[in-house]
Amino acid sequence: MAKRVKRIGVMTSGGDSPGMNAAIRAVARASSYYRVECLGFMRGFQGMIENDYIELNARSVRNIINLGGTILKSARSKEFLTEEGRAKAAANLKKANIDAMILIGGDGTFRGGKVFSEEHNIPVIGVPGTIDNDIFGTHYTIGYDTALNTVIDAVDKIRDTASSHNRLFFVEVMGRDAGFIALNSGIGAGAEEILIPEEDLGLDRLLNSLERSRRSGKTSSIVIVSEGDKIGKNVFELAAYVKDNLPYYDAKVTVLGHIQRGGSPTCFDRVLASRLCVKAVELALDGQQDIMVGMMNNEIKAIELVNALKSKPTINKELLRISDILSV
Ligand code: F6P
Repeated sequence: MAKRVKRIGVMTSGGDSPGMNAAIRAVARASSYYRVECLGFMRGFQGMIENDYIELNARSVRNIINLGGTILKSARSKEFLTEEGRAKAAANLKKANIDAMILIGGDGTFRGGKVFSEEHNIPVIGVPGTIDNDIFGTHYTIGYDTALNTVIDAVDKIRDTASSHNRLFFVEVMGRDAGFIALNSGIGAGAEEILIPEEDLGLDRLLNSLERSRRSGKTSSIVIVSEGDKIGKNVFELAAYVKDNLPYYDAKVTVLGHIQRGGSPTCFDRVLASRLCVKAVELALDGQQDIMVGMMNNEIKAIELVNALKSKPTINKELLRISDILSV
């Protein structure tokens, strides 16, 4: 029979994402509801190594559901990549009587958590939190929806000035090597073209498309470029190349950068974080381990961490077709 869980740990790791605080709140509140103790480790794996934690309870997480960032801070710990680092962390968790750890982060966090659990037999449960939406086993990651809304808000503003000056704008968005942010925000913002790593459209196609839109009477255009796209790898060089080949275009570049990671989470991200984390606590109490909770077709499901790490989610190619039709 599985050991009764009395104390749960939680941490946030990797790139922060809006909704992580809603997730921490849900872990602390669900723990309190089920009468188990909850400790929050600071700066992800690094706080576990340094035994840096705070006690969390239902009241200590008040007024954070609406806050961007993470009250537990985040980091990408180099020390945790070493066996010694992980051994220090395990010793600290054992000393603190932690029965299960809830890890809120992306695939790097889950990879670290899986090795850690295998080496030290401390149950871990992953909760997908990243703006990139690049985790297999969930249709949505915490923070993705907020990031999309931040991007379309920014692009709407760029559109105003693009249209006033008859300009072409290349807007680079985040996503690491996945094009989810670019593809969905591109459609939402009404972009002319969307460049994503999953689909190499080539430079000729881009030039033809821009040439066609000019002939069709468009006076300004927006191209969304995912940071991981091959031809847009350097968005400034891409803009220069387009200017050289289509000299009538006054091309400008905006790199949205880390504003995409900040801000108050949307209602969608708050609800997602709440649902995922209540489930994560319930599964921890049930003695489950080395799993990740995700939302598939609006249902909260758990999959083995090893399976979540094996694959990458695929983009919906239908969205590229929609974008093509709508940029006529
Ligand atoms: O994974 C989230 C993310 O914001 C990616 O979109 C981006 O490539 C990366 O993190 C940037 O990381 P850093 O925090 O090191 O700037």
